[in-house]
Amino acid sequence: MCIGIFDSGIGGMTLLHQALLLMPQENFIFYADTDHVPYGTKSREQVVSYVDEVIRFMLAKECKAVVIACNTATAVAAEQMRSKYCELPIIGIEPAVKPAVAESDGKRVMVVATPLTVHEKRLQKLVERVDDEHLVDMLELPGLVEFAEQGEFVSARVTAYLQEKFAGYALEQYGELVLGCTHFNYFKDTFRALLPQGIHIIDGSFGTVRQLMRVLAAKGALAPQPAEEAAGGQVRYFASGREILEADRLERIRKLHERLEQMRAL
Ligand code: DGL
Repeated sequence: MCIGIFDSGIGGMTLLHQALLLMPQENFIFYADTDHVPYGTKSREQVVSYVDEVIRFMLAKECKAVVIACNTATAVAAEQMRSKYCELPIIGIEPAVKPAVAESDGKRVMVVATPLTVHEKRLQKLVERVDDEHLVDMLELPGLVEFAEQGEFVSARVTAYLQEKFAGYALEQYGELVLGCTHFNYFKDTFRALLPQGIHIIDGSFGTVRQLMRVLAAKGALAPQPAEEAAGGQVRYFASGREILEADRLERIRKLHERLEQMRAL
């Protein structure tokens, strides 16, 4: 049985990439909901219905767990989906606000996310819970989702977009940048170039994969470790339910993994 990972688009590959590193013995289905991307500028009702459709797809594929590799979808739909599909382990990525505040050492924390995530009560409550010293600012960056989906990761337009969004913030006061949208990992080099040296960039993918491992281990559902069966590490990619099999599209996916590997080191 495999693990299903999904997002509105290519952002969720951040999590898949991390999962392939930490759980090489597992097989995966990766589902990008390309018919409905972006989620972050839609209504919560729309996103809930998209997520429901994806989870039904994952169940039909007999996935042993589903990872919502989308902060926006977790914020609006995770609780509802867990009550509806109570037999299925559903793990959702969330902005890593808590560790960022804990490590900020009194410096400010910038959380960047989609408009829907920023306006959802779930994130606001999380910030209220951990931000005793009022260090956290939240900033919407929906344009980065569009750039990512067009494969435009490094360009004068990306830099100008971020410069405009950051204008008005005293950037030297920030010690932590929380990537609260999985699409944003593709832009770590530009974030580094624009933000103060030494700023710590954090996202929730490592913690989410660790949580997935804990949940599967507790159910005795992790694939066996040794490579004797040598069946791990396979991924089938789907675009809104249609399997991607064409060599040129799979090559594009390979290049995205390459970019994510470069960004991981930054
Ligand atoms: N990648 C998604 C997230 O983590 C959402 C991007 C979008 O579709 O707006 O929030």
